[in-house]
Amino acid sequence: MQDTDIHERVLTCRVVAMPENTNAAGDIFGGWLLSQVDLAGSTLAVKISSGRVATVAVNHFQFIKPVLVGDLVSCWAQLEHIGNTSIRIRIEVDAERMRSSHDKERVAEASFTYVALDAQGKPRPVLS
Ligand SMILES: CC(C)(COP(=O)(O)OP(=O)(O)OC[C@H]1O[C@@H](n2cnc3c(N)ncnc32)[C@H](O)[C@@H]1OP(=O)(O)O)[C@@H](O)C(=O)NCCC(=O)NCCS
Repeated sequence: MQDTDIHERVLTCRVVAMPENTNAAGDIFGGWLLSQVDLAGSTLAVKISSGRVATVAVNHFQFIKPVLVGDLVSCWAQLEHIGNTSIRIRIEVDAERMRSSHDKERVAEASFTYVALDAQGKPRPVLS
């Protein structure tokens, strides 16, 4: 990835929240959203590090508002920090309320750390 692009906030995941992703109350299950956010962050980490990564830490995760069935969920990822073998990504999640107002609302914010891995599954430098 070009140095000039590295700090850009990018849309890395857009998905419709489906009925099979609900919790017992009928809202979208937090674990489903967390997995979407992990995928969204890892997509940017893979791109920046030009290879495989593993999630090593969820530094922060805030559920701000519920996600509802039918919402169009968009995850925006942005580089926060590059270490030696690790890379920290901020993810912002918006939901468009497709079944009602069509308003877009911020529903979650998170920060995940990924480790760049070599072919043997060992940490490797992010930028080489
Ligand atoms: C990722 C993994 C290979 C790293 O191996 P490790 O021996 O812990 O590696 P290190 O201790 O050298 O740490 C590697 C980097 O991660 C960072 N790191 C480790 N634990 C961290 C944590 N809890 N929070 C933030 N960063 C962390 C280190 O600071 C280091 O960063 P740097 O090189 O930029 O300074 C290993 O922890 C692992 O396999 N974890 C499981 C990954 C996984 O299965 N993820 C999916 C979960 S479902």
